[in-house]
Amino acid sequence: MKNTIALDIGSSKTVIYQPGGGIVLYEPTVIALDRERRFVKETGAEAKKLIGRASDSTEVVTPVFESEVADFDALSLLLERYLNKVTVHKLSARPRAVMNVPCGADVTTLRKFSRVLNSCDVSEHYFVESLILTAYGLGLNMTTTPSFIVDIGGGTTEIGAVSGDGVLCGISVNMGGLSLDNMIRAYIEDGFGLTIGRLTAEKVKLTVASLLEGDNVSMIVNGSDTSSGRPRAVSVSVKDILTPVKVFYDKIFEIVQMVMAKLSAEVAADIRRTGVFFSGGGSKLVGLPEYFRAQSGMRANVFDSAEVAACLGGGVLANDKKLLSKYAIVRK
Ligand SMILES: Nc1ncnc2c1ncn2[C@@H]1O[C@H](COP(=O)(O)OP(=O)(O)OP(=O)(O)O)[C@@H](O)[C@H]1O
Ligand SMILES: [Mg+2]
Repeated sequence: MKNTIALDIGSSKTVIYQPGGGIVLYEPTVIALDRERRFVKETGAEAKKLIGRASDSTEVVTPVFESEVADFDALSLLLERYLNKVTVHKLSARPRAVMNVPCGADVTTLRKFSRVLNSCDVSEHYFVESLILTAYGLGLNMTTTPSFIVDIGGGTTEIGAVSGDGVLCGISVNMGGLSLDNMIRAYIEDGFGLTIGRLTAEKVKLTVASLLEGDNVSMIVNGSDTSSGRPRAVSVSVKDILTPVKVFYDKIFEIVQMVMAKLSAEVAADIRRTGVFFSGGGSKLVGLPEYFRAQSGMRANVFDSAEVAACLGGGVLANDKKLLSKYAIVRK
């Protein structure tokens, strides 16, 4: 459909797809506002850099938490900016939008996102469950065999089986990369007596977290001494944070097994053959495929497009009216 974009307003990042242009925006879902007068100071990557570093006059907001609207005004301001970035010169009117929402999202969640979109003049919008869009975005053939998707995002993890008929069995869990960052943070504080910031915790995860046996990367981590408050640095290796990393992924894999146990024998057989399709930023952890195979005996398929798959799937539906009307959630 002409003038229809795909939007993924995630807990960590916002992605926008435009027909003919592909992914035209990929930015953190973060905004920095003047604390008193509420004007926008920074958005996206620039705003994210201010987390833990802002002055008293600045409030840094992550307006989506666990895939829910946590701050309506901040999210409206942020989305307005992002839509302006991609639409001003390229499209005449505000586009229609296809947007992914968590599996089984309730009416209140959808209503809140609707209000945000309406406030940015995106009056016509279609919500589709993330699992379906991710499957389309990964290019999986939905007509022949069902697929089992695990999308490990920043705030939530979507787990379930989908087929051409829709979601066969799925669940959205309030666990994501941000929970792992917090677990790593607490672990470093306990183990090293070092207090670290949110961004540092994510950096530690991205640099040294690994489930690959024998991996021995390490890095110097800066923070403040938990008791004296003075700046201090320690060296953190894969082994030092293996416990929280394992606890996090073991929990997710346990839920994967629970969801799988609910599938019919027919679908279970199909999935056993194809393996599990991972997406979302959390699927990029080093050693995840090997670890998953060792735990479950099944293949883990991980994609380079992990963080944009849901939005790319939104793009597939934005270009296909039939598919869109088949999967769009009808709100009562
Ligand atoms: N290589 C990596 N290893 C582990 N985690 C990673 C890696 N790369 C990115 N991440 C994490 O992935 C998360 C972001 O994933 P993603 O972009 O899929 O989330 P999102 O769609 O914004 O969130 P949600 O779907 O929960 O609303 C962040 O927590 C980030 O730290
Ligand atoms: Mg996501």
